[in-house]
Amino acid sequence: MGIIFNESSETITLHTRHTSYQMKIGNLDYLLHLYYGPSIRDTDMSYQIMQYDRGFSGNPYESRNARTFSLDAQPQEFSTQQQGDFRTASIEVVNSDGSYSFHGKTANFKIKDGKYQLDTLPCVFAAAEDTVDTLEVTLTDEVSNVQVILLYSVFEEADIITRSVKVVNSGAAPIHLKKIMSVCLDFLNGAGFDLVSLPGRYGQERQVERQHMTHHIHTIGSVRGSSSHQQNPFVILCDRDATEDYGKCYGFSLMYSGNFLTEIELDQYDQLRLVMGIHPKQFVYELKPQEVFEAPEVVMAFTEHGFTGLSHLYHDFYRTNLCHSKFVQRVQRPVLINSWEAAFMDFDDVKLVEIAKAAKNMGVDLLVMDDGWFGKRDDDNSGLGDWYVNTDKIKCGLHKLVEQINDLDMKFGIWFEPEMVSEDSDLYRAHPDWAMQIPGRHAVRSRNQMALDMSRQEVQDYLIKNINAILDDANIFYVKWDINRSLADIWSNTLPAERQGEVYHRYILGLYRVMDQIIKTHPDILFEGCSGGGGRYDAAMLHYYPQYWVSDNNHPIDRLKLHYGTSFVYPVCTMGAHISDSGRFVPLKTKAVVAMCGTFGYELDATHLNAEEQEICREQSGLFRQYYPLIIKGDYYRLTNPFEPGNMTAWQHVSKDRSESLLSVVVTNLTCNGPQEYIRAKGLDPNAMYSINGGTEVYSGSALMNAGLPINREVEEYSSFQFYLKRQ
Ligand code: DGJ
Repeated sequence: MGIIFNESSETITLHTRHTSYQMKIGNLDYLLHLYYGPSIRDTDMSYQIMQYDRGFSGNPYESRNARTFSLDAQPQEFSTQQQGDFRTASIEVVNSDGSYSFHGKTANFKIKDGKYQLDTLPCVFAAAEDTVDTLEVTLTDEVSNVQVILLYSVFEEADIITRSVKVVNSGAAPIHLKKIMSVCLDFLNGAGFDLVSLPGRYGQERQVERQHMTHHIHTIGSVRGSSSHQQNPFVILCDRDATEDYGKCYGFSLMYSGNFLTEIELDQYDQLRLVMGIHPKQFVYELKPQEVFEAPEVVMAFTEHGFTGLSHLYHDFYRTNLCHSKFVQRVQRPVLINSWEAAFMDFDDVKLVEIAKAAKNMGVDLLVMDDGWFGKRDDDNSGLGDWYVNTDKIKCGLHKLVEQINDLDMKFGIWFEPEMVSEDSDLYRAHPDWAMQIPGRHAVRSRNQMALDMSRQEVQDYLIKNINAILDDANIFYVKWDINRSLADIWSNTLPAERQGEVYHRYILGLYRVMDQIIKTHPDILFEGCSGGGGRYDAAMLHYYPQYWVSDNNHPIDRLKLHYGTSFVYPVCTMGAHISDSGRFVPLKTKAVVAMCGTFGYELDATHLNAEEQEICREQSGLFRQYYPLIIKGDYYRLTNPFEPGNMTAWQHVSKDRSESLLSVVVTNLTCNGPQEYIRAKGLDPNAMYSINGGTEVYSGSALMNAGLPINREVEEYSSFQFYLKRQ
C-alpha cells in the first residue's frame, strides 16, 4: 500500500519505490507538511518541527496564550490566507460576507485504490499494471463552509505523485475564488536550492535557466492565455550542486495549457515554499452553493540522480500514463513531409502531388497539407474559421487529392487552427460575436486574426461539427492542430459583467472539450500539436497529442538547444523535428541526425532536391525507421550541454535492456589545432562488450562510459556522427 496512516502520530505517509511524502494532522487540526524526498520508511518526521515564539507572527486564537505555534513558521500542506501565515497563499477566496479568510482545518481523509479523476480537466491515468492509491484530505472552514479537497495519487513503481485540489462551496451563498493553486510544497530547510526553468521566445522555446533562490518570491508564469513560448509550466528545484547525474531534484509539471503561475518563496527563516497553478491574474471564479471548482493536476517527481534521473522519471511516466493515443507506444509513426516551408500558402493540388511524388523517393510516408487549403486563404489575413476546402487551390477536391496521395502508397495529413477566426471570413461575417473582443473597443491585432470565444458552447459545437466532418469525409491519417496568437480582449458575451474573470479559464475548458470530442473520437488519427512552433508545449497538450511541434526554428544548430531544453521533462518521442532548408552551411546528414532526436520528417520542397540529395534522404528515412524503437522507447541521455562553451553537442538513446544504443554527435565549432574531444557514453552495461556501427572491434561499456569515444576533429564544421552500439 502506497499510503499509510499512523494513528498514534497522526501522520499520513505516501510511499513510492524510492521516495516518501509525509503530512500530519497537527496542532488544532491544521494539516502540516513534514517531508518529501528519499524514502524514510515509517519514521515520524514531526521531530523536525521546532516551535518558538517568533516576533510579529500570528498565533491561532485557539492556542490561547501559547505563542509558539504560528502558521507563519509551520510547513503546511496547503497554505491559506488571513490565518497568520504571511507567506505565499495557495487560495484566495472572497466569502459571501466579503471577507477573504479561509481557515481550513482537517475534517476527514480517505484512502482509496486507483487514481482520482477530474471531470473538467485532463489528467494522467493508471495503466493496468500500475499500483496506484489515492488520498483525499478535506479541509473545512467552519464559518464559510468552504471545503478544500486535496487530492494525491501515488504511482508506486513510477516514483510519481500527482496532486490536484477541488474547492466545494458548501455554504448557502456564492463565493468568489481569486486564486487557487494546485500544489503547495514547503521545505523546512530551504536554503541552498536552485530553480531550473525553461524560458524562451518564439523560435527559441524552452532554453534552460538556473538561478539560486534568494529571500524573495520568484515567479514564473504566463498571462498570454496559453502556457506560452516565454515560460513553460515545468520547474525543477534542485540542490545547488546538482548536475546531470547527481544531486536531489524535485520536478513539478502542471497539466494546464492556459495562464499559469509558479511562485517560489524563500522566507525569513530559510524555509522554502513552492506553489503552482492557474495564474490569478484576471481570474475570479464564482462558485454558487454546492458548486465545485477543479484545479489542474501537478505531476511531481523526486530523484537523487540529477537532471537525467528526473527526466527519465518524467519520460517513462509520460510515455505510459499521459496520452491514450496508440501512436505513443504501439504504432510506428510515419516519416512525414509538411508543405509549409515548401510552399507556404502558394500551392494547389498539382503542386502537392508533385511534392508527394518526390518525397516518396525520399522514403517519406505521409504528406501534410499545412495552412492555406481552406476558405479564402492566400495569405494570413483571411480565411480562418472557414473549414471547407478552397476549390480554387484544391481543384480536384479533398477526396480526390487524398486518393492521389494514397495511390502513391502514402498517407495524407491536414492542418487546422480551430481556435482562431479572421475578420475576413464567412464565419466572422456570420457570427462577429463569436470572436473575443470587448464591446466598444478595437481588438488587439496579432497575425491579423482573432481568437474565438472558446468558452461558448455554440462555438465549441461549431468546431466539433465542422472539423469532424472533414476528418470523417476523407482518408485522413494525421492532423496538425495549430494556434498562432496570444489571447487578449478577454471578454465573453455569454457571461455577465461580474463573471468576466472566468473567461480565461473557461476558454481552456472549452478547448479541452473540443479536443476531447475531436481527438478522442478519432483514435486512428495521429495528432500533432503546434503553437507558432512550440508555444503551448505542455503536459496537458501531450495528454491529447502524442507529438508536438518543437519550434518554427528548424536551424539544426539552434535545434540542439531546443531539443536539449525540451527533453528536461518531455520525452523525445513527443518532439516534432524536421529537416528544412534552414541552415545553409549544415550538411543534410547533420540535419537528419538532429531531426532523429524526435519524430523525424521534412519541411521543404522535395521537388527541388537533386537525385543525390533524395538518395541521402532515403537513407536517412531508412535509418530513422531502424532506430525508431530506440528513439521512441529508450532512455535518453544528454551527454553535453549546448548552452555551455564547447565544440560538440552529443546525446544518446539507450534501449531499456542496454543491449543497443544510438550515440549522436554534432560538431558545432572547431577550434584551430584544438585538443582531442572524447564523448563519454552513458547508460551502458559496464561489463558488456559493444560493437560500433557493425564493426568487428568491441569495447566494454565501461571503457565507452569512462574513457569515451574519440571524435574525429579533421572534419568540416557542422559535421555529425552517429554511433550505433550493439552488445555482443
Ligand atoms: C505556425 C506553425 O508553427 C507553422 O509550422 C505553420 O503551420 C504555420 N503556423 C502556418 O500558419
